[in-house]
Amino acid sequence: MKAAVRTNFDDSVSAYDAYEQRTGRFTALAKLLATELSARADNPVNAVLDAGAGTGVSTRVFAERAQRTVALDISREMLRKLKAAPRIEADFDHLPFVDNSFDGVAFTASLFLVPDPAVAAREAARVLRPDGVVGAVAPLGWVDADGTDVFADLERESRSPTGADAVEAALANEVTVTTGTWCFATTAEDVRRFHAIPAMAARLYPRLTVDERVTKARALLAGLEGTVEQRWRWIVGVAE
Ligand SMILES: C[S@@+](CC[C@H](N)C(=O)[O-])C[C@H]1O[C@@H](n2cnc3c(N)ncnc32)[C@H](O)[C@@H]1O
Repeated sequence: MKAAVRTNFDDSVSAYDAYEQRTGRFTALAKLLATELSARADNPVNAVLDAGAGTGVSTRVFAERAQRTVALDISREMLRKLKAAPRIEADFDHLPFVDNSFDGVAFTASLFLVPDPAVAAREAARVLRPDGVVGAVAPLGWVDADGTDVFADLERESRSPTGADAVEAALANEVTVTTGTWCFATTAEDVRRFHAIPAMAARLYPRLTVDERVTKARALLAGLEGTVEQRWRWIVGVAE
């Protein structure tokens, strides 16, 4: 599973950045998460681990606010684009840091990509200083105005490795959490652009090649019109 996730993101660099340049969606998520982390921290969040930093979209947001931000990702190709901070190619299930290293650990749209988020949640708690804060953003899907999942009746093969509930439960096992939902009005064309990212199309068609899955995702979503809502669960916790 992890090797597939790594390869999927290695293949996604240009489509990911094109989507972000058009929508600013991951920047928006990181800014909201940074605000929640600061709001709940008793002390300044000076040292941040951006866990699943990708091409550095979230890293830039945290680096603007913290004295020290470290970017960590499993995908070498995503990280290669990242210029904003020290970068480490690693798995957030096995963090290469000693205990009590950070004031904050942020998983911006990354913790749902492992089958068992409990492992990374434990690692995040280990590297956090006492009173440190940890946060994650996990997708809740795309819904119509009446709250219906737009993918409910569409033919696809799978969903993400882990759901938002599992991400929340994993973090709640380690820290005291607060959660909420962020909603973004999204055009049908931007839903198609999101699924033009090979790693996102892989959540629909995990067994197909990059070209096949992106083509099939575009065909699947060809009839989508108007605006739908993309929903994300945020979870923020404070270490004891
Ligand atoms: C949707 S991207 C988000 C990137 C970035 N946080 C942003 O806001 O643009 C998810 C990132 O998590 C990384 N990732 C997935 N599983 C990982 C793991 N086990 N350890 C480290 N990074 C991982 C992927 O390689 C990918 O770059």
